[in-house]
Amino acid sequence: MAELQEVQITEEKPLLPGQTPEAVKTHSVETPYGSVSFTVFGTPKPKRPVILTYHDVGLNYKTCFQPLFQFGDMQEIIQNFVRVHVNAPGMEEGAPVFPLGYQYPSLDQLADMIPCILQYLNFSTIIGVGVGAGAYILSRYSLTHPDTVEGLVLINIDPNAKGWMDWAAHKLTGLTSSIPEMILGHLFSQEELSGNSELVQKYRNTITHAPNLENIELYWNSYNNRRDLNFERGGDITLKCPVMLVVGDQAPHEDAVVECNSKLDPTQTSFLKMADSGGQPQLTQPGKLTEAFKYFLQGMGYMASSCMTRLSRSRTASLTSAASIDGNRSRARTLSQSSESGTLPSGPPGHTMEVSC
Ligand code: BEZ
Repeated sequence: MAELQEVQITEEKPLLPGQTPEAVKTHSVETPYGSVSFTVFGTPKPKRPVILTYHDVGLNYKTCFQPLFQFGDMQEIIQNFVRVHVNAPGMEEGAPVFPLGYQYPSLDQLADMIPCILQYLNFSTIIGVGVGAGAYILSRYSLTHPDTVEGLVLINIDPNAKGWMDWAAHKLTGLTSSIPEMILGHLFSQEELSGNSELVQKYRNTITHAPNLENIELYWNSYNNRRDLNFERGGDITLKCPVMLVVGDQAPHEDAVVECNSKLDPTQTSFLKMADSGGQPQLTQPGKLTEAFKYFLQGMGYMASSCMTRLSRSRTASLTSAASIDGNRSRARTLSQSSESGTLPSGPPGHTMEVSC
């Protein structure tokens, strides 16, 4: 039984006009693999899963998810759900550096901490939203606790362990690059890094000067030592819930996500390849991701179309017809978004859809 410890921290969240403040509380729970902190937004909604997020390496829940969850149109979605944002151990703001020789949990062990969090909060089911290492952790959790996962949004997932070629490349890169540069190469495309946009500068600065850089390196090592998830189309090792796979069309993990899509159950999986979004679509394209998320939830029966904004309703109407035309094609399971007009049609989970924009 995990030891429980509670830390209450009041967080600021900007309010929209007419909105009442939500409960926000940060907790910390002791687990067999060390303590883990998480921030809970909102009050329990009966008979609804919670949205549980897990961030990527080099980030924490805020630097990974704040632009998405604070996006204007996202508010009408998330007001219907409690959100539990997990920080990987040592990644929370102000986290002390782990002592030398500290054994950082493997990604599998990080996944095994999630039941302690849910038990502590008395929540039974989740819709997981994970990026990179976080997407891997939520997938692993879903394989071991399939009955508690109602849906998964997996951004930049690489379900494969590093092969020897990857290791050789990793070692070579390590000879000339610092840990922050290697992590930036995992988060952003080479094009984005050389373009050095304000976003890249901000994240480069945050990671390079992070007071917990040693902890970040430990999470990075765990990510690089991950086991293969061994997904197998039609096999026993697969995700059983509706899944939305997301990747930017120039993201470093594009090939891995494409391969992952080929291994998952096509009746349960939607694949969203986002144009012009780089490596972190949740930071650069929160609007499109919000819309895709809304349709994903609708497909699961959680967002009645009456909850949608007038704008979304009209876009859905036009795109539903586009999708049905494309639905006659046998190939389609890909949701491609253009930078101009890309949105997703609603439909049952796993429905074959392609939107050509
Ligand atoms: C949320 O409302 O869930 C949220 C707010 C700030 C940062 C991340 C998430």
